[in-house]
Amino acid sequence: MLLLKGKSAEKQVEEVTGLSILDLALKHEVEWGFSCTRGTCARCRCLITEGMEFLNEPTDAEWDRLDEEELKEGFRLGCQAVVKKNGNITAENKTYF
Ligand code: FES
Repeated sequence: MLLLKGKSAEKQVEEVTGLSILDLALKHEVEWGFSCTRGTCARCRCLITEGMEFLNEPTDAEWDRLDEEELKEGFRLGCQAVVKKNGNITAENKTYF
């Protein structure tokens, strides 16, 4: 299961491999910040508090856009973090502003 903590509400949804956290938030109408969907605006930034091992490795765009510290702390870009395997994942949308 994937727990999406959006801006105003949270929703537990069935995770689908091959889709990004942002894709899943939009599909399930969870209010989630985004603009570019290409890894540059960082409005989709989220904190993964559980299940990082079920996501892809950070992409080049994430290495460019996020600090190493943020990546270590578990921050990802929702449009870049793709579910690779089924498992329990918790993602909280945390925009900078
Ligand atoms: S939507 Fe812009 S970085 Fe993800």
